[in-house]
Amino acid sequence: MSETLSFIRNMIVDPRRVGAIAPSGRALAELITSEVEPRHAPVLEIGPGTGVFTRALLARGLQQSDLILVEFGAEFAAALRRAFPGATVLHADASRMRRRAPFDALPRCGAAVSGLPILSMGSRRQMRIMEGAFALMRPGAAFYQFTYGPVCPIPRAILQRLGLKAERIAGTLMNLPPASVYRIRKAQPH
Ligand SMILES: C[S@@+](CC[C@H](N)C(=O)[O-])C[C@H]1O[C@@H](n2cnc3c(N)ncnc32)[C@H](O)[C@@H]1O
Repeated sequence: MSETLSFIRNMIVDPRRVGAIAPSGRALAELITSEVEPRHAPVLEIGPGTGVFTRALLARGLQQSDLILVEFGAEFAAALRRAFPGATVLHADASRMRRRAPFDALPRCGAAVSGLPILSMGSRRQMRIMEGAFALMRPGAAFYQFTYGPVCPIPRAILQRLGLKAERIAGTLMNLPPASVYRIRKAQPH
């Protein structure tokens, strides 16, 4: 309950940053983490909020020490440090992940899970986030993003510019609102 209250308080103070009316439900957390396995460690999680997806990653066999959590909200970042003391929690803006401290010192990740409100961001910020995330990931690694919308929330122009391909893996009606998850990867050269 206190996590939901913290989420609502953050939503009232900064609706654009939070971009949702409540933390994601368990069904969406299980869906967005469904392809992530311990062999993908370390795993990057962007916009973890109250840690719903973080807990789902741990339930899939990852250890706290396998997780790099990037959260821009100060209250969320502090609560994540308390809840997951073994994880690397960075209180930072995910649009600054490209070649900047502290990101430049991180090990390459085998997957990324994003809870970011991508649709409430401008295209320059979306571009910087995708560029930064893929710079931190190993070749072949996938980036998982959910959306409440009917299509992939990363605009086609950004996918093309970065050589990425998006595929919808599934959707769930058991979330408020219902959501879909996209897997985004570097396109294979023909
Ligand atoms: C829609 S909430 C999702 C929270 C959680 N993953 C969930 O599904 O319940 C978006 C989260 O992204 C964080 N966020 C927004 N912009 C960010 C940025 N530029 N860098 C890092 N985190 C950001 C917000 O503070 C919030 O925790």
